[in-house]
Amino acid sequence: TAGPDLAGRHVVISAGGTREPLDPVRFLGNRSSGKQGYALARTAAARGARVTLIEANTGLPDPAGVDVVRVGTAVQLREAVLKAAPDADVVVMAAAVADFRPETYATGKIKKKDGQDPEPIVLVRNPDILAEIAADRPRPEQLVVGFAAETDDVLANGRAKLARKGCDLLVVNEVGERKTFGSEENEAVVLGADGSETPVPHGPKEALADTVWDLVVHRLG
Ligand code: PMT
Repeated sequence: TAGPDLAGRHVVISAGGTREPLDPVRFLGNRSSGKQGYALARTAAARGARVTLIEANTGLPDPAGVDVVRVGTAVQLREAVLKAAPDADVVVMAAAVADFRPETYATGKIKKKDGQDPEPIVLVRNPDILAEIAADRPRPEQLVVGFAAETDDVLANGRAKLARKGCDLLVVNEVGERKTFGSEENEAVVLGADGSETPVPHGPKEALADTVWDLVVHRLG
């Protein structure tokens, strides 16, 4: 395992999946368990970093020696990331962020009405936190790492996403109902804005996390 090669560095990591409420009892969500983000937090702390972990709806216990901030929605996640980022050497967005949220929030539980069709759910766009952070870096030497959850054309979609989001590294992983989400293992290709491509074979989420930190340490110089 690596030595304390992240000592003196502050890393900000997001983990989990945002929930976008429809009413007091319902939300639109996704299958992220937060395990990949927590693995990044544990491994960064083990390598000496000061870690701020911003978690959305994981229910996981706080990793030792890590500052944990809890959020629910994409808008709250954005606020927490923007608050922590100015002081960070590295920002890693491992959270699964909802691209859209319901336009309206019903303050009372939405009721079904006899004989009536359900009301359609109108969605509006959520802010793109990764693109915003990458475009507007509080420190020029700050590194921004994204994740891409893809179900098909994984590499082509990953390259396009890397360019669109403007981050330094993009960890492209394949997801499905029973793939990656919630599992202890992952498999990925880490794409660099410099054209690099680092395949990470199927293995524990910690192993992928350590490869991400290796690439980060190399780039921090
Ligand atoms: O949590 P686990 O069960 O361990 O599963 C891990 C994981 C599959 C959730 C993780 O490895 C992963 O891929 N996370 C990113 C999921 C995702 O939202 O991918 P995306 O392709 O939709 O988004 C691309 C990137 O933009 C991500 O870094 C995401 O955090 C960011 N994003 C997306 C939308 C948005 N509105 N704002 C963002 O910042």
